Amino acid sequence: MLEIRDVTQRFGGLTALNRVSLNVPAGKVIGLIGPNGAGKTTLINAISGLAHPTEGQIYFGDRAIQRMPPHRITQLGISRTYQNIRLFGEMTVLENLIVAQHGLGRSSILGSVLTLPGFRAEQRLLQQRAGALLTQFELSDKASQRAGALPYGDQRRLEMARALATRPKLLLLDEPTAGMNPIETEALGTEILELRQKGLAVLVIEHDMALIHQVCDEIYVLNFGQIIAHGTPNQIKNNPLVIEAYLGEEG
Ligand SMILES: Nc1ncnc2c1ncn2[C@@H]1O[C@H](COP(=O)(O)OP(=O)(O)O)[C@@H](O)[C@H]1O
Ligand SMILES: [Mg+2]
Repeated sequence: MLEIRDVTQRFGGLTALNRVSLNVPAGKVIGLIGPNGAGKTTLINAISGLAHPTEGQIYFGDRAIQRMPPHRITQLGISRTYQNIRLFGEMTVLENLIVAQHGLGRSSILGSVLTLPGFRAEQRLLQQRAGALLTQFELSDKASQRAGALPYGDQRRLEMARALATRPKLLLLDEPTAGMNPIETEALGTEILELRQKGLAVLVIEHDMALIHQVCDEIYVLNFGQIIAHGTPNQIKNNPLVIEAYLGEEG
């Protein structure tokens, strides 16, 4: 479904990604781990069109997307969350979910001004979808609260709900449990597995190894911009290169 081929990303003299190749097959959960500064967020930025890679290709299905703007990539069916939460803090929880779907609708600007029947029907659909996501992420009773005032764990869940509002085929999660308590983290793991069951592909960056082992079919390890290991959770756990990369960080 997603195929990253030899992607290199340079920022001036810094090589943040060095010939990275990685696959996310349909219906699989793929983990991306590695020490801080390894290039994990940079890779998700490249996939989602926030930064265009210096070299290499990114295929989504049979389409090369590495030069597409972010909104085109969203329309094709890739959605993401951010390591540093990016919600519209002044808007309500519900409004965040409605706005997220904007741009996917068919109604013209003129249609919205004149409130034509097509526009009304579409608005109803947006409300329905938002309502379903609120239920799914247990945010229904907070629908009219200001997003910025929510506790951290709720904001993370709202980010995930918002990413799903565009009905993606591939979901990119950048440290989705950062700041969550253990109970919230475990619930999120269950949620990720349910998404997989519904056929969604997921690429997840995560530091919580218990969660990674709980949800991932395969794991890639990034260190200094390079993939140093790829395999099943058990293969990765026992890989000496991986152990060294993490010990290196602590030492
Ligand atoms: N827009 C940018 N401009 C310059 N350097 C950047 C930019 N984005 C990331 N980097 C650098 O690239 C490296 C990888 O960063 P990042 O992808 O955020 O790592 P990770 O998510 O694995 O912690 C870091 O050295 C970071 O400072
Ligand atoms: Mg990061």
